[in-house]
Amino acid sequence: MQRWQRRHGRHDLPWQRTRDPYRVWLSEVMLQQTQVTTVLPYYERFLQRFPDLRSLAAAELPELLALWSGLGYYSRARHLHRAARIVVDELGGRLPRTAAGLQRLPGIGRSTAAAIAVFCHGERAAILDGNVRRVLARALGFAEDIASTGAQQRLWALAESLLPARGIASYTQGLMDLGAGVCLPRAPRCEACPLAAICVAHIQGRPQAYPVRSRRIRRGQRESVWLWLQAGPEIWLVQRPPQGIWAGLWSLPEFDSIEAAREALSGLPGRPQALPGFVHALTHLDWTLQPLHWPLPPSTRERAERRLRACGPSGRWMTVEQALASGIPAPLRRMLEKARA
Ligand code: ADE
Repeated sequence: MQRWQRRHGRHDLPWQRTRDPYRVWLSEVMLQQTQVTTVLPYYERFLQRFPDLRSLAAAELPELLALWSGLGYYSRARHLHRAARIVVDELGGRLPRTAAGLQRLPGIGRSTAAAIAVFCHGERAAILDGNVRRVLARALGFAEDIASTGAQQRLWALAESLLPARGIASYTQGLMDLGAGVCLPRAPRCEACPLAAICVAHIQGRPQAYPVRSRRIRRGQRESVWLWLQAGPEIWLVQRPPQGIWAGLWSLPEFDSIEAAREALSGLPGRPQALPGFVHALTHLDWTLQPLHWPLPPSTRERAERRLRACGPSGRWMTVEQALASGIPAPLRRMLEKARA
C-alpha cells in the first residue's frame, strides 16, 4: 500500500506540504463530506484570512460563516470556531498531539482525530471515514450490516489490526486515495488497485456487494416557499436560527406554502411570481424550495418590513452584493448570481 501510495497516490495537495496541525486540522474538517476539488479554493481563502489558530479564535462567527458559505454543513465551521477558542483559552494555544486528545474537541470525530495525529505526529491510529470503510469492507469481505453499531465497532477493530508498523502516513493517505479514486462506489477500478490480489470482494467478483447496508434510509420530503421580496435594489433577508440547516446564515423568509406567504403580506401591492422550484438534497430529506419573487414599489418598503418583523425572524434589507458577501445558503447564492448575470 505504501509503495502504491508513493507511486500513484496524491502528493501535491496543499495540506500535504505541511505538518502544521492547524492546517491539517482545517483540511480534514473541510474534507468531511466534501470532495477535494471543492475544498481547494475554500482552503486557500480561509488560510489567507485566518493563517493560524489564534486568528481563528479571535474571529467573529459571521465572518467565518461567510467564508464557509457554499461549502455546506455549517456546523463544521461553528465547531471549528468553538474548538479554536477552547484551544486558545484552555490548552495554551496548542492542539492536542494525540488522537485521543484531539477527539475531545468539538467537530473532531474518531477518524478526523486519527488523520490529524497520523499526518502531523506519525501516531499509529486508524481512520474510518465513509470512503475507507468501503475500501476495507471490500478488501476484507466484511459481510456485516454496517448500519449496526456492533458491526461498526468490529470494523474499527479490524482497521486497527491492519495498521502497519512503519509508514503510517503513506498507508493512511493510500487508503484515502484508493477510496477517492480507485475503489469507487459504483464503478470500482479494480485493475488499478494494489489490493486486488487479496481483495475478497474482487475475488468474489462482486465489489458492489460491500459494504453491506441492510437498513434502507428512507428519504423524507418537504416543501417550502422562499419569499424573495424586492424593494428597489434591496432584498429582505432573515437570519436563520442557530440550530438546524444553514444555521446562522442569512436567507430568504420561509413559508409552508405560497398562500401562507401571500397571507403574511396581504394588502401589499405588487405581483408575486412563482419562479422555477428546485430540490435541495439533505442527508435524510429532499427539500423542494419554491422561490416566490415579489417586487414591491419602494414606497411600500416600510409597511412590508413591519409585516415581516411581525411574522418572522429578525431580518434586514440587503443589496444583492451585500447578500453575496454574507454567509448565505449555496442555492440562494446561485439564484442571486443568476439574477445578477
Ligand atoms: N479526505 C479526507 N482527508 C483527506 C486527505 N488528507 N487527503 C485527501 N482526501 C482526504
